[in-house]
Amino acid sequence: VAPLDAEARRILELNDRGGYTVPTDGLYPYQWNWDSAFAGLGFAAVNIDRAWAEIETLFSGQWDNGMVPHILFHRPDPGYFPGPDVWGTEDAVGRGACAVASSGISQPPVAASLAWRIHQANTAAGADRLRALFPKLLAYHRWIMAARAETGAVVITHPWEAGRDNAPDWDEAMAGVDPVGVQPYTRRDTGHVDPRMRPTKEDYDRYIWLVQFGRDRKWDEAAIATESPFRVADPTMTFTTLRSTRDLAAMADLLGEDAGEIRDWVATLEEGAETLWNPALGAYDAKNLRTGNFAGSLSNASFLCWWGGLRGDRAVPALDALLARSPYALPSYDPEGPKFDHLRYWRGPVWGVMNYLAGNGMAEAGLTAQADRVRRDTARLIAENGFAEYFSPIDGTPAGGATFTWTAAVWLAWAS
Ligand code: DGY
Repeated sequence: VAPLDAEARRILELNDRGGYTVPTDGLYPYQWNWDSAFAGLGFAAVNIDRAWAEIETLFSGQWDNGMVPHILFHRPDPGYFPGPDVWGTEDAVGRGACAVASSGISQPPVAASLAWRIHQANTAAGADRLRALFPKLLAYHRWIMAARAETGAVVITHPWEAGRDNAPDWDEAMAGVDPVGVQPYTRRDTGHVDPRMRPTKEDYDRYIWLVQFGRDRKWDEAAIATESPFRVADPTMTFTTLRSTRDLAAMADLLGEDAGEIRDWVATLEEGAETLWNPALGAYDAKNLRTGNFAGSLSNASFLCWWGGLRGDRAVPALDALLARSPYALPSYDPEGPKFDHLRYWRGPVWGVMNYLAGNGMAEAGLTAQADRVRRDTARLIAENGFAEYFSPIDGTPAGGATFTWTAAVWLAWAS
C-alpha cells in the first residue's frame, strides 16, 4: 500500500467511533451527515461492511418526518458547542423528531448518491443493504421536497445546513438577522483551530440566534418557513438533491420499485435549478428568498451543476476564468472577489469534497480538461500538505482541522 493510501486508511480508523466516524477529533466530535456519507465512500475502498454501517448509523438518527439531521450526538462531548442542550430537539420528539439526540436542521443530501457508489463498489455485498436503505432515502427526499423545495430549488434555513457555513452567499440574508436575545455562549471551535480560519463572531451570534429561533418553534418547518428572516435557495442543496434524486431513481429501477414520484421530483428540481442561474455572474448562484436578490457569489457550489446532471456549456466561461485565477482549484469563493479570504473556511479555501462532486460532474459532462485539473489539484494539495480540512487556493496552506475524515475518503475514492 502506498504511503498516502496507508495514511488515509489510518485516518479513517483513527476517527472511527464504532459504526460511525467523526470528521476529526476535537473540533467535530460527533457524527455529521454529509461527512459521514463521504466516510462511507472512503470505507468502500477498504471494508465494504464498514462502509454500509456508516450510512446505516446515520439513518438511525432519521426523524419520523423523514429529515436526516446534520449532527447526531451519539455521546456527550463538552468540547463542542452548540451541543444537544442548545438544539433542544427533544421538544420535537412526537412532532417529527427521532429519539437519538440531534440538531434540528439537515445538510446537503449526498447520502443517496454515495450509497449508490458504495453499492457499485461491491454489488453482491450491497444488495440487501441497499434494499433496506431505499425506503429511508425515499422518506428523506420526500421531506426535502415537501419542506424545502417551494421554488423548485432547495432552500436552507441556516447557513450550517448548506455545509458552507460562512460563504459570502449568505451575507445579505445574515445581515437581515438581528441577533438580539442570544443567550451568552462560549465558542469551542476557536479553541481547536486558529480563529483566522473560522467564521467571525458576527456570524456566530447569528448562527446561535437561528438555532434558538428553530428551537423556540419546536423545529416546526411550517412556522420556520413563514417566520424566519433567513431563507436562501442554495446551489449546494439544489444540485446535491438533484443528483441524489437521479441516483434514487436508478436504485428504484434496480430494485423494481415505482420511480414515478422520484422522476417528478427530478423535473421540479430541474426547473428550480433554472431560478438559480444568475446571468450577471454567468453562473449558478444563491438566491435570498426574502428579497429575491442573488448573492453575486462565484463559488465551488456554482459548478456543481454538472454533478446535478445538467448539461450544456453556458457555465464553462465562468469556470475557465475561475480556474485561470486560482493556483489551486476549486476555491470556495472567487480569489478576485471583494470578500475573498484565502484561509477563512468557506470564503476562499479549497475543499476536497466539493472538488470530488464538481470534478466528477465535469468528467461526466465531457469537460475533461477541467475535470483533470480539479482532480490533479486535489491530489497535489493532499500530497504536499496532508489530509487537512481545507487548503488555501493561493499557496496550498493546510487549514482547519487535521487528519480529516472526508479528505482521507476523497483521496481513497478518487484523488489518489
Ligand atoms: C461547526 O460547528 O462549525 C459546524 O460546521 C456546524 O455544523
